[in-house]
Amino acid sequence: MHSLTIIRPDDWHLHLRDGAVLARTVPDTASQFGRAMIMPNLTPPIVDTRMAVAYKARLDAQKSSLIPLMTLYLTDHTSALEIQRAFDSGIVKAVKLYPAGATTNSAAGVTNIEHIYPAIEKLAELGMPLLVHGEVTDSHVDIFDREKGFIDQHLAPLLHRFPNLKCVFEHITTDDAAQFVAGASDLVAATVTPQHLLYNRNDLLVGGVKPHLYCLPVLKRNTHQQALQTAVSNDSKKFFLGTDSAPHAQGAKESACGCAGCYSSPAAIELYAQAFESFDALDKLEAFASLNGPDFYGLARNSDTITLTRRSWQIPSSLSFGDEVIIPLGAGETLNWKMEA
Ligand code: DOR
Ligand code: ZN
Repeated sequence: MHSLTIIRPDDWHLHLRDGAVLARTVPDTASQFGRAMIMPNLTPPIVDTRMAVAYKARLDAQKSSLIPLMTLYLTDHTSALEIQRAFDSGIVKAVKLYPAGATTNSAAGVTNIEHIYPAIEKLAELGMPLLVHGEVTDSHVDIFDREKGFIDQHLAPLLHRFPNLKCVFEHITTDDAAQFVAGASDLVAATVTPQHLLYNRNDLLVGGVKPHLYCLPVLKRNTHQQALQTAVSNDSKKFFLGTDSAPHAQGAKESACGCAGCYSSPAAIELYAQAFESFDALDKLEAFASLNGPDFYGLARNSDTITLTRRSWQIPSSLSFGDEVIIPLGAGETLNWKMEA
């Protein structure tokens, strides 16, 4: 195969940040994707509809073709009334649950899911999706076991209590999560990042630590990577594209306490194509990237297409990022597929 034309993909999990760097992140995303689900973990976080509307205006001011779908950041104090307001705005499409302390800018997240039962009940009533960062935060739980711990202690009981809740288990990293989602109702789906399909913890740690492969949830062992590859290759409609592209400047990554997050937006669809080709599933890329997401969210599929051509090219070794520099995921590596402009 020399060329692959697919319906334009969407990115169902994306961090664009704010301020000057939007001139980098928004066009990079718009060059490939139609829509993106915009994560709310800014400083301060986007905790109400008013803030989401203002953030969307700053994204729209970039004058790109990207359609941003906004989210709210749940705190212990998010009320059912605020959920109703968000839903009525037509701008906020989902809400994000960060367990407090789980990841970047999650300090204001939820300390105990019971605190937000009224908000979750309202989500279930409205059919508005809950997006979850699925990791427990207890200091005694090993970082590689935190996703499984979340399923057992929080997600399974939550979905049992609210069987009508629409829920996306974001950036899954384990066989446990893939199996949990596959076995759950059709209201439960998952996003999968390029890094969790392409790499495992050996890539992160063997022969020296690679800070640009460090993200949360952290890369797991190769058997989990293979389980994710299998999940996206099956014909299940529950798994779809969410890059979790999460930019941090080079200095914040290459540091004694490096930030979590991989900046994949500039070559996202090509990285996924590389991954899918490696496990012989290129014919499943379109469903994963362009069909399953909008179908789950009850939105129309994009009406235009993109074309990937089989030719070698190199991901840039660095890019400008406001006044700083950013190292994209796969910097300097050669990819086999290039999206035509
Ligand atoms: O690696 C990550 N980076 N994981 C997250 O959950 C948050 C993100 C960020 O915002 O930097
Ligand atoms: Zn994220």
